[in-house]
Formats: sequence, structure tokens, C-alpha cells
Amino acid sequence: MMDIGEKVRKTLADLGVTDPAGVEGLFAEVRTAMEEERRSLVSRGAANEGERAKLIKNLRDRWLARKGGLLSQVDENWLKTAGKELKPVVGRQFNELRRFAACMEFEKLVEALPLPPEPIQQMKLPLASGAGGVVPGDLTLPGYRRPLGSLHPVTQMQREIEEIFLRLGFWIETGPEIESTYYNFDALNIPESHPSRDDWDTFYIDAKTVLRTHTSPVQIRAMEKYGPPLYIIIPGKCYRHDNPDATHYPMFHQIEGLAIDEDITFADLKGTLDFFAKMLFGEKVRTRFQPSFFPFTEPSGEVAVSCFVCGGQGCRVCKESGWIELMGCGMVHPQVLRYGGIDPDKYSGWAFGLGVDRFAMVKHDINDIQLLFQGDVRFLEQF
Ligand code: FA5
Repeated sequence: MMDIGEKVRKTLADLGVTDPAGVEGLFAEVRTAMEEERRSLVSRGAANEGERAKLIKNLRDRWLARKGGLLSQVDENWLKTAGKELKPVVGRQFNELRRFAACMEFEKLVEALPLPPEPIQQMKLPLASGAGGVVPGDLTLPGYRRPLGSLHPVTQMQREIEEIFLRLGFWIETGPEIESTYYNFDALNIPESHPSRDDWDTFYIDAKTVLRTHTSPVQIRAMEKYGPPLYIIIPGKCYRHDNPDATHYPMFHQIEGLAIDEDITFADLKGTLDFFAKMLFGEKVRTRFQPSFFPFTEPSGEVAVSCFVCGGQGCRVCKESGWIELMGCGMVHPQVLRYGGIDPDKYSGWAFGLGVDRFAMVKHDINDIQLLFQGDVRFLEQF
């Protein structure tokens, strides 16, 4: 079989390519070959900086050199000699090939090509003859360093929060991301006509099915499944029809907390969340509860923690306010308990819901939520 270097030296007619489909197939072969060569270079690595520079230059010249590079041969031998009917498709394919080559970013390969790590020390092993010396091709030297992956900062944050509640005796419950409007809204005391439903407007799969807007629907599911007493946290992905900006993303992560038992009061909620904040941000932080509104809790509150960076004096992290907003919370609305099949005259409960991504942003001083979801290794490897 002819390799790509030989093919580009021939004309399309010599290659027996006479129709547009043949042209497209041929260009696809060229793109595959280019990608394959780049990939095999990256996975092979280089022994040192000098060899790395040489390998990259060779690859670049082979494909892109003005004189004799494979692309310029495609131009000379395929495009310029193409007949009238094939010329437009060859021209289009050639432009696409050039764009493809630009995406290969040969000049940036220096960052992608691994070098072996510096040997810690040259090992001296006794030779069989008894004479000491460096063993040639020493198999005990470390191999190429393959970068290790790590947990995503949002996952790390989620686990840190889970740990605290697991220590308090809560367990972890999960629920579906594709949720019925009944669990996402109605059973949480958000009837169809209620304006607060707009706050959580989301992506509809059909009239009765949404991508859940919060983890709160799992409150009802857990009440139905287990009944009281109930001490759970619910981590998971949520979705909202929010335009991406520095603090919003259409997909994000929440952790819900729910405690239902006899004689549960607002004091239990305050005590638990204050303990949680101290475990997460340090013994010295204080918590602040302010009134708020959620249809599924009554009374409802917003919890803030005194800034763990400046101690409440005001700084960049707390936007000079001295406080960092943590979450929404409140006492589970009696109507919601009824929806979950629990008698509100016998049982009461509290709940909270927090944004894990925002917690990770505060903790690591990340100023744009979108960085968390772009999958850029240069960002992710910092955590
Ligand atoms: C709720 O979703 C309530 N279910 C929380 C709750 C549970 C209150 C139980 C009372 C009892 P809220 O809409 O405020 O509340 O969202 C909670 C958190 O989710 C926000 O504080 C924020 O951290 C995060 N969040 C909301 N929308 C986005 C978004 N588009 N991108 C990133 N994070 C978001």
C-alpha cells in the first residue's frame, strides 16, 4: 500500500480518483495520517530538549514546509492539476485540511511532549566482574513521567462536605436528575400557578418532566421511601435556564440537607449549620441567619458565615462585606411533610440547600464558575 507521502506526489488522475466522494476519502486519509503522526510523537516523548526540538521541527517541516511539505504537494499535485469538475471540491477540502493542520498546533507541541524526569541520582551498581560503575541502559532508572489525574475541585468539595455530615450521623441519598414536575415543584409547595415557579424555570423534557432545578425533590422521595426519622444529605447535579456568567452555569451542583424527627426545632438547624461552618472554615467563624423565602420551608432563612480570610474585616473574597453567603434553609413546611406522607403534627424537620461549585469558588478564590467546567488541565492541575 502506498503511504501518504507517496500519494501526495501523484496527481488525482494517477491515483484513479475521479469523483467528489473519492476526493473526500483521500483528504480524510491525509487528516488521519497527520493526526496519527502527531499522536505517536506525543506518546513516544523525547529523551531531552534537543531531541524534542528536532522531532517537532521534523514533523512540522514534513507537513508544512513551503517547499516540499506534504500540504504544499497536495496543493501542487492535487489542487492545481484537478480537472474542472473536481476543482471546487478539492479546493474546499484543501482549505479544510489547512484549518485542520492549524488545529494540530505543531508549534505548541513543546508543552505536550513529555521529557523523562531528571534522574534522582545516577545509580552505581556493581558489575558482575566486581568492578564498580554505571550500568549502561540502566533499567533501574525511572521511566517517563505520566501525569496523574486527580479529583475535580467540585468533587473534592462535595466529599469534604459529605464527610462532616457523615460524622454527624447523616447518610447520603441521591435521586434522578431527570425529574417529574410533581417532585420538582408541586410536592414542594410550588403549584403551577405560583410565581415562585419562575425562579426555578428550567429545561423541560416534556410538559411533566424537567431537568431538576434543585436537589429538594429528593426530600419528598426520601420521605416516601423511608419515613421518619430521617437524617440525610443529598448531593447531585442541578440544571437551570441561567445564562452563564461568573457565578452562574446552566449545570451546577447542590447538596441538600434534611433532618426530620420528633421535636426538631430551628435551634437544631442553627446548631448543626454553625457546627458545619466551623468544621469547614475553621473554629473562629461565626454564622448569621437572615429571613428569606422558600415555598417549601417556613420560616426560611439565608445563612452566611463571617469571612474566613479576613475574619470579617472586609476583603476581596467577601467583597468587602465581611460575610460570605452560604445557603438557603428553613423548617420543612407542614404541607411538604404531608406530601411526603409524614404527619406534621407528630414530626417536624429542617432542610438546607447549598451550591457546591460556589463553595469551591470561595475556598479556592476562583473568580469565574465557568473555569470549573471547561476541562482545561492547566486550571485543574492546580487542585
Ligand atoms: C434552592 O435551590 C433551594 N432548593 C435551597 C433550599 C433547600 C432552601 C432546602 C431551603 C431548604 P437557591 O435557588 O437559592 O435555593 O439555590 C441554592 C444554591 O444553588 C445557590 O445559593 C447557589 O449557590 C446555587 N446555584 C443556584 N443557581 C446556580 C447556577 N445557575 N449556577 C451555580 N450555582 C447555582
